[in-house]
Amino acid sequence: MKYEFPKNFLWGAATSGPQAEGTFNKKHRSVFDYWYDVEPDAFFDKIGPAVTSNFYNSYKEDLAMLKSIGFNSFRTSIQWTRLIDDFETATIDEDGFRFYNDLINEALKLGLTPVITLSHFDLPYELYEKYGGWESKHVSDLFALYAKKCFELFSDRIKNWTTFNEPMVVVEGQYLYQFHYPKLVDAKKALQAAYNINLSSAKAIKAFKDGGFDKNGARIGIVLNLTPSYARSEDKKDVQAANFADIFFNRMFLDTAVKGKFPEELVEVLSRDKMLWESTDEELKLMDENTVDFLGINYYQPRRIKARDDEFDESKGWMPEKYFDNYIMPGRRMNPYRGWEIYPKAIYDIAINIKENYNNIPWYISENGMGVEGEEKFRNKDGMIEDKYRIDFVREHLECLHKGIEEGSNCFGYHMWTPIDCWSWSNAYKNRYGFISLNLENQEKTIKESGYWFKEVAENNGF
Ligand code: BG6
Repeated sequence: MKYEFPKNFLWGAATSGPQAEGTFNKKHRSVFDYWYDVEPDAFFDKIGPAVTSNFYNSYKEDLAMLKSIGFNSFRTSIQWTRLIDDFETATIDEDGFRFYNDLINEALKLGLTPVITLSHFDLPYELYEKYGGWESKHVSDLFALYAKKCFELFSDRIKNWTTFNEPMVVVEGQYLYQFHYPKLVDAKKALQAAYNINLSSAKAIKAFKDGGFDKNGARIGIVLNLTPSYARSEDKKDVQAANFADIFFNRMFLDTAVKGKFPEELVEVLSRDKMLWESTDEELKLMDENTVDFLGINYYQPRRIKARDDEFDESKGWMPEKYFDNYIMPGRRMNPYRGWEIYPKAIYDIAINIKENYNNIPWYISENGMGVEGEEKFRNKDGMIEDKYRIDFVREHLECLHKGIEEGSNCFGYHMWTPIDCWSWSNAYKNRYGFISLNLENQEKTIKESGYWFKEVAENNGF
């Protein structure tokens, strides 16, 4: 075998509560449930989060399918809006508890290690309406209360917790680039939300450690989407621009999660531009003292950056683009359906960056993947989707990851997005990512060619 992975390597894929479960029996709405209710047109083919992949009802059969394609682990998230009855006191909803409890037991029975995320974009709508969601520090306390409840209920069985999934996407989607409800363009709020989410994560980690839940190998981390920034050229201005994009989009969460401190350069720029968040010494100390045990890294695409040609027009307000411009690199390899560049080598660069600049903290790829529209046309006469492009995609990324591991990076697993085609935040079912296809009409699930290929890789711990 050419590419052999470390012992006990996690092989699997990730989904999230809101994207897989369906809203069945859920008493509260998340911001996405609310958004769909008020603006169904914002979602591809007007398909909302009601049924999704029916995981709430079919989790037993679904988990068995995951097992059948070689998984030894998977990630999903608990929905705050399903588990909790009263957000201020974190009392539990009995049916929500029953569901997550049974799901965890079933996964363990099948020999699947669950990685559990506490927040995957799905802020309770009530907390947005009442407090402005992540703009509020009170919400960070409520999040810690909810997190503590999850640890109390499930940490006897869950050994891998993550506080947030891709918090930077919340900041970008909700407050800067208008792709999550309520689609604001407000950098001041964006930065306060970024600070408050970092704080919320640290408060949850504190609850985990103070409560003594970090026993018997149990650990807590965060899932970050890293978009390595590559400068157009070696010209100083391009390099500086790429460095700022890296600090803003990656290190604002990465440094804080791992090192307990915001990057100094970011704090300097934001202070100079009068954009710095409100903080207290006590909060900064709390973040410094409550860093993650491990990282989940979602990698989809790099960021190509050049220096701005002109002065940024600040009349409509501050934006991070004051310090860089996106660069459309000629000849870049694209996934045309999602509009994201495919660049496997970035996974190696991430591995080395973590090794050299983040204390070689344990980490794993918590998402990587390729969303493709119209996969039905690849279904063969035996009913299997021949997604050879996905096999190539995974193989190439694994080769680069392997090189990073060979050079000493402390990576303990590889999860794809996603096990079974699932609902997406506004693309709904446009692009399919799964190893297993979903027929939306009848909920029939069939293993794709990539699923059979992955089974071999996982069972051989390499290829
Ligand atoms: C990540 C998220 O951003 O990428 C997932 O954690 C998401 O929730 C996935 O579904 C793919 O992105 P999209 O927008 O194509 O669904």
